[in-house]
Amino acid sequence: MTLIDGKQTAADIKKEIAAEVEKMVAQGMRRPHLAAILVGHDGGSETYVASKVKACHECGFESSLLRFEDNITEAELLKAVDDLNNNPEVDGFIVQLPLPRHIDEQRVIEAVDPAKDVDGFHPINVGKLSIGLPGFRSATPAGIIELLRRYHIPTRGKHCVVIGRSNIVGKPVAQLMLHKGDVGDATVTICHSASENLPEIVRQADIIIAAVGRPGFVTADMVKDGATVIDVGTTRVPDATRKSGFRLSGDVDFDSVAPKCAYITPVPGGVGPMTICSLMLNTLQAAHQRNT
Ligand code: GUN
Repeated sequence: MTLIDGKQTAADIKKEIAAEVEKMVAQGMRRPHLAAILVGHDGGSETYVASKVKACHECGFESSLLRFEDNITEAELLKAVDDLNNNPEVDGFIVQLPLPRHIDEQRVIEAVDPAKDVDGFHPINVGKLSIGLPGFRSATPAGIIELLRRYHIPTRGKHCVVIGRSNIVGKPVAQLMLHKGDVGDATVTICHSASENLPEIVRQADIIIAAVGRPGFVTADMVKDGATVIDVGTTRVPDATRKSGFRLSGDVDFDSVAPKCAYITPVPGGVGPMTICSLMLNTLQAAHQRNT
């Protein structure tokens, strides 16, 4: 069994990005600039956004964080989005999700200029992904593809079973695994909460991508010997032994599943660091596009 080290891979990629940024600066270009909008004080969102700001520093990017309280109106948030759309100093930005319930999330996503939508959530970018046109790819799926590429894990003709059908992970990663390319060309099945015989389907997989958000959902009896298992789950579960009071739990019962695998990602340290890395790559791409 090989443990897929997302933390190290992400560190390698951030170094590659930083070197490219220094080249851009030496040629007189601006540093890429990523902005983030954070509404409220959700613990998970605070952590994600802090990691994104830290990654910007590591890559030599400019970063800005715009914070708003939970009681911001939808109109005020849309105005902040519009200001970033029109700010020539900002190459790309994200609106951290989830948003408070009184705000229509889809409306906010669709207000972001697709050319600055480094999360890849705008329907224009989702549509481009769907038909294989260049555009911003959702960061977690892009990070998973990069891990498969860097670990030379064969995908062509393999059966990839994705568990979960979210717009952010399940659907886009299934599309990427389906596309023709050096990573892709797989036979793809998407399972979800209404799937009948889910364990039987997952047992047929050469590659399992688990993105259900249910700790320990994938158990050893669902995994074929020699499979590759990618665990996207990051659920906070209470843990009194930790200073934070919680630990992150994946969707895979790691201890029982790992011995059966050819490759497996840990949680934490697997897919998570790659997600942030993909966001940095999208921002670099946005900066290049604005400079050309
Ligand atoms: N909330 C959870 N994951 C994400 C993400 O990738 N981007 C944004 N904007 N919000 C999130």
